[in-house]
Amino acid sequence: MQHWDDPIATLRNPPANTPPPKQTPAPTERETALPDDAPAPTATGLEQVDFGARRIRVDDKSMINCRADLNQLVPFKYKWAWQKYLDACANHWMPQEINMNADIAMWRAEAGLSEQERQIIKRNLGFFVSADSLVANNLVLAVYRHITNPECRQYLLRQAFEEAVHTHAYQYCVESLGLEESEIFNMYREVPSVHDKAAWALPYTQSLGDPDFHTGTPENNQRLLRDLIAFYVVFEGIFFYVGFVQVLSMGRRNKMTGCAEQFQYILRDESMHMNFGIDVINQIKLENPDIWNQELKQEAHKMILSGVDLETRYAHDTMPQGVLGLNADMFEEYLRFIANRRCTQIGLPELYQGATNPFPWMSEVIDLNKEKNFFETRVTEYQTGGSLQWD
Ligand SMILES: [Fe+2]
Ligand SMILES: [Fe+2]
Repeated sequence: MQHWDDPIATLRNPPANTPPPKQTPAPTERETALPDDAPAPTATGLEQVDFGARRIRVDDKSMINCRADLNQLVPFKYKWAWQKYLDACANHWMPQEINMNADIAMWRAEAGLSEQERQIIKRNLGFFVSADSLVANNLVLAVYRHITNPECRQYLLRQAFEEAVHTHAYQYCVESLGLEESEIFNMYREVPSVHDKAAWALPYTQSLGDPDFHTGTPENNQRLLRDLIAFYVVFEGIFFYVGFVQVLSMGRRNKMTGCAEQFQYILRDESMHMNFGIDVINQIKLENPDIWNQELKQEAHKMILSGVDLETRYAHDTMPQGVLGLNADMFEEYLRFIANRRCTQIGLPELYQGATNPFPWMSEVIDLNKEKNFFETRVTEYQTGGSLQWD
């Protein structure tokens, strides 16, 4: 029965062939071009409410190309994603909670730090302050739209906020130390080793950010997977690690302890971001085994190799001479070790035979021993778990 004159009833049962209400954007060409019997397009979360439709079941959910309503968090399909959201919230922190007084005094004292130590602080603030903005933009403008699972979107929203906290933390360090803002914030446009890492990553965001880009074909699903590897495995999984080691090394020597503490909190968050991303990548591979072909595996290897190359150049640029018991050669070895670990995490063969970790202390503060990702620890249990269905 139609209720033509009752606006509320019309919202629940919009009459066929009636133009949408004025506030509703007109359907896109892609939507209008679909024949009546075509399967529902991939959900975005912006569809009209399907009043009275069948309730969502866990089997309706999928990491990408889901056709079911995305505005219902439960029933959970990916409990690990929800757990990471809860863990991330439990780790909440804010940059102003960290005392910067000792850093301010040390920075002002002429003999407090060597030139190279000052360069390390400035370079890393310059790199990270734009890097976290790039990561946040990649999440919000590129990745979020294509991940069609509410519990993962919940974590992505939390991650996006954490990236804002990180950018805030770097800004807070710059302000506390009285650094020249324009020098730090423009570094990614003025210092080659900083620029090159940002420039490497941006095309992946641009590729997914294209409003005409939609997943659903093997080629486009691969394009999404490639972006996730670029950001979660290379950008957050390799490009951050020279900086983390350098600044944490200063803290271990009682230098710039406030900055080091900020970086330690950030490292804890980043470790979880990377492990979440790796879980998403592995889940997409499981649900779409055809896209993880030889060609994409080779491309992923190449991306990791170029990540190691750019980060090695960054290590040489930030510490041309050895300092703090560190030197660029140690970073080369460390990056090979990290790269092997990243390969294993996404199911690729290692790239550098026999690489070892010259900074075993990093294992105590980062992911390597502590925060395992889901697929390394519980995949068997999960795959055989009774109530979950695998497409
Ligand atoms: Fe971050
Ligand atoms: Fe991050």
